[in-house]
Amino acid sequence: MTPRTMDDAAKVLADPTAYADDARLHAALAHLRANEPVAWVDNPPYRPFWAITKHADIMAIERANDLFLSEPRPLLATAAADDYMAAQMEAGMGIRTLIHMDDPHHRKVRAIGADWFRPKAMRDLKIRVDELARRYVDRMRDIGPECDFVTDIAVQFPLYVIMSLLGLPEEDYGRMHSLTQEMFGGDDDEYKRGVSPEDQMAVLLDFFTYFAKLTASRRENPTDDLASAIANGKIDGEPMSDIDTASYYVIVASAGHDTTKDAISGGLLALIENQDELARLRDNLDLMPTAVEEMIRWTTPVKEFMRTAAEDTTVRGVPIAKGENVYLAYVSGNRDEEIFDEPFRFDIARDPNRHVSFGYGVHFCLGAALARMEMNSLFTELVPRLESIELTGEPELAATTFVGGLKHLPIRYSLR
Ligand code: HEM
Repeated sequence: MTPRTMDDAAKVLADPTAYADDARLHAALAHLRANEPVAWVDNPPYRPFWAITKHADIMAIERANDLFLSEPRPLLATAAADDYMAAQMEAGMGIRTLIHMDDPHHRKVRAIGADWFRPKAMRDLKIRVDELARRYVDRMRDIGPECDFVTDIAVQFPLYVIMSLLGLPEEDYGRMHSLTQEMFGGDDDEYKRGVSPEDQMAVLLDFFTYFAKLTASRRENPTDDLASAIANGKIDGEPMSDIDTASYYVIVASAGHDTTKDAISGGLLALIENQDELARLRDNLDLMPTAVEEMIRWTTPVKEFMRTAAEDTTVRGVPIAKGENVYLAYVSGNRDEEIFDEPFRFDIARDPNRHVSFGYGVHFCLGAALARMEMNSLFTELVPRLESIELTGEPELAATTFVGGLKHLPIRYSLR
């Protein structure tokens, strides 16, 4: 193997605290895009990987899903956590969601829930989502003139939507909320249950126990919701395994919640920090679809996914050996100067906006249309009613390498 040197900037990608410091993260990524777009990162306690920071390379790797596989390392975790998960998998107890799978199995499992995220299902759900958006903006008015927008509003609304789609009872929403935070905020002191892989596994087991009961009940009494579609889903004519079933709920409940919360709260912060853009949106609500897209690019709630090379190959001329991992730096792809005009400008009318926040290719976010609709409903309700809005403290980002955004957004506002 050729000797490898590591650019200091590359280390930040394997440093959770860097993700809580936008300036530090973006400075390092801009440096890598310009100087070492395929960079070797060896920063324990993580196993080494190649950081891919150019938009075109991220897309090309995602497109080549036979060459760059999701198994066995779909995302960045510590070596100890990777080993623990592998041992659990060997023992038949591991989580295996869509993001862990490769085709052809992935395609079959994805098809089970896919209808619930298509445009027709979205149209049916829109009335409910609009209703919830109004409810949360009313709540914001009622608790005003100050609130923590993240904990009071942005966390609640998408959770409510996804739980409605799944068909879960309202009294369970709180429990789902803390479980998703514990799962995704693995590195952040405010969210984590504990540092060890065993602690993280305990979170998963709690999810599994809850969903095992749900599966049994939906198999006995199917209802018209996504939970029933998952519980009764078949692969090649056979019911899904217990692990695949439970994993499906886990991915929908978790992916459908924290991600959208991050895009909503980071989107509002961008509007507060760019009052001219807020005024422009208020005066022209037709810009809402491009504004939502820009918020999703701007915030990039999912920081990364990883792939493993199935064969020796190259990226941008750099040799990648079979079995090595590539880290797809979505945050970097979304600020790539070669793709975006003035990437560091928040422009609610940006068009085209070929961001990679939802990934690309066969794993393209299943809930993208839902996330867009939720954000559209919420901001369409909020923006025209907002007479003024300002920060009352420092917004705080979560220290996590995977899914993350604002933990707190203290604001003062006047709302009709
Ligand atoms: C702004 C909000 C969201 C963002 C930024 C986001 C981002 C992503 C990304 C980057 C991926 C991986 C794509 C890839 O590997 O190419 C993904 C996959 C996925 N997302 Fe989302 N997501 C969001 C909202 C949602 C919602 C609301 C749901 C609803 C359930 C959802 C469900 C999923 C599922 C099930 C997958 C796995 C798809 C697969 O592997 O085939 N996401 N998402």
